[in-house]
Amino acid sequence: MSVEKIIEEEKQGQSLITEQVNNNHKKLFIESYGCQMNMNDSEIVASILAKEGYNTTQNLEEADLVLVNTCSIRDKAEQTIRKRLQKYNRVKLKKNRKMKIGVLGCMAERLKTKFLEEEKMLDLVVGPDAYRDLPNLVKEIESGRDAVNVLLSKEETYADVSPVRLNSNGVSAFVSITRGCDNMCTFCVVPFTRGRERSRDPQSIIKEIRDLKDQNFKEVTLLGQNVDSYVWYGGGLKKDFDKASEIAKATAVDFASLLDMCATAFPKIRFRSFTSNPQDMSLDVLHVTAKHDNICKYIHLPIQSGSTKVLNRMNRQHTREEYIELIDNIRKIIPECAISQDIITGFCGETEEDHKETLSLMEYVKYDYGYMFAYSERPGTLAAKKFEDDIPLEVKKRRLAEVIALQREHSHVRTKAFVGKTMEVLIEGTSKKSDQHWKGRNTQNTVAIFPKTGNETLGDFVMVKINDCTSATLLGTVVNRE
Ligand code: SAH
Ligand code: F3S
Repeated sequence: MSVEKIIEEEKQGQSLITEQVNNNHKKLFIESYGCQMNMNDSEIVASILAKEGYNTTQNLEEADLVLVNTCSIRDKAEQTIRKRLQKYNRVKLKKNRKMKIGVLGCMAERLKTKFLEEEKMLDLVVGPDAYRDLPNLVKEIESGRDAVNVLLSKEETYADVSPVRLNSNGVSAFVSITRGCDNMCTFCVVPFTRGRERSRDPQSIIKEIRDLKDQNFKEVTLLGQNVDSYVWYGGGLKKDFDKASEIAKATAVDFASLLDMCATAFPKIRFRSFTSNPQDMSLDVLHVTAKHDNICKYIHLPIQSGSTKVLNRMNRQHTREEYIELIDNIRKIIPECAISQDIITGFCGETEEDHKETLSLMEYVKYDYGYMFAYSERPGTLAAKKFEDDIPLEVKKRRLAEVIALQREHSHVRTKAFVGKTMEVLIEGTSKKSDQHWKGRNTQNTVAIFPKTGNETLGDFVMVKINDCTSATLLGTVVNRE
């Protein structure tokens, strides 16, 4: 289907009706760990269970069903979840014997039935592609049996499920556009827990955004493990795209056209996307981003390591030089663009020289901010099978501390560069530190704090003059639009 046709249908279309849940009497307590995709999945789960009589609650003790959406990305994430499960168990034993406890997401997929053996009080284990089966699984556990479904799927994108927005500020929302990942980075557990990569029908994406617009949302983040490899050719796995018919290939929608389509159809919504992968980011995406004011000038572009040798061992599909070329293109095409990173320190075989290459790459890019981690070996990954986890923990940690310190310096340089400028900020809530101040973000994703004047409200786009900053936050005042 052509971009024009989809935009046209969007103009004529009807809004999705959010599920009525007034009559529900059962209580669901749902908690999410890990990436934004998990947060969004929990919203899908809440929507599926709303039809089974469950309304969400923030009060753990009164819950009939407790679900934790889990993350396996690093060992620490799994440890945190184990501790949470102990807490649920205590509450169940002391306060609410009828409570059922279930795990969703990546740890469920990784451990499968072993999870039930290890955590005796668990009732339910459900992998990321099996949430549609929750109504059956929940009936099973309600009648006293354990239930497990960890099947991965070739098609599932939950395209027709309208998520119940949880913990929402009513301003920003996530919309998933791809699921799974085919990249097989050797350190990463995601391809094993989330299965093969598939993209979601653009029409269903547009419908979901229209629904958000009708509910007065102002910002949408398009989500995927690797948004740049989005391709809709009528359904099916990304890896089978080459086998599609010539017509399907010629009319396929890629990420650049999806972004273009969204930004054109919803000029009042501000768009972000997360995560970009250097190997798949096209110049088209950069040109579309530059073309639309309502596409944020911010790209999260994980590098993982500045050394080509290490990148190669990680099975990342680009070199240091190719990454630098991409950075140069971003700076050329979108000069005001903010860029953030993911970096792993102490991957198998990383030498001091490799580490210095990471630091020098950071010096070159001067990232606006970053997410930095010490390498954590994950069972079943290619790195766990092929390489020795040979960097001592204290070396991983020391390198991590160096990377974090350098990033802090660069973040400060970047935030300082905004001082004296006036910029548009979307008001996303009241500042945590003071109820007299608003909190919002500019197009570059930098947080700004400014005093309330009484003339603006949550969800407004306002112009803010930046007078000062800390290393990560801008401080300003609202000014009139010129
Ligand atoms: N799809 C994204 C990454 C998803 S995982 C991409 O294209 O890169 C988020 C981040 O967690 C990764 O970028 C990586 O920096 C980190 N990470 C993943 N596996 C890890 C591991 N085994 N140890 C430490 N950090 C890891
Ligand atoms: Fe993981 Fe690499 Fe995919 S980091 S999510 S395998 S792009």
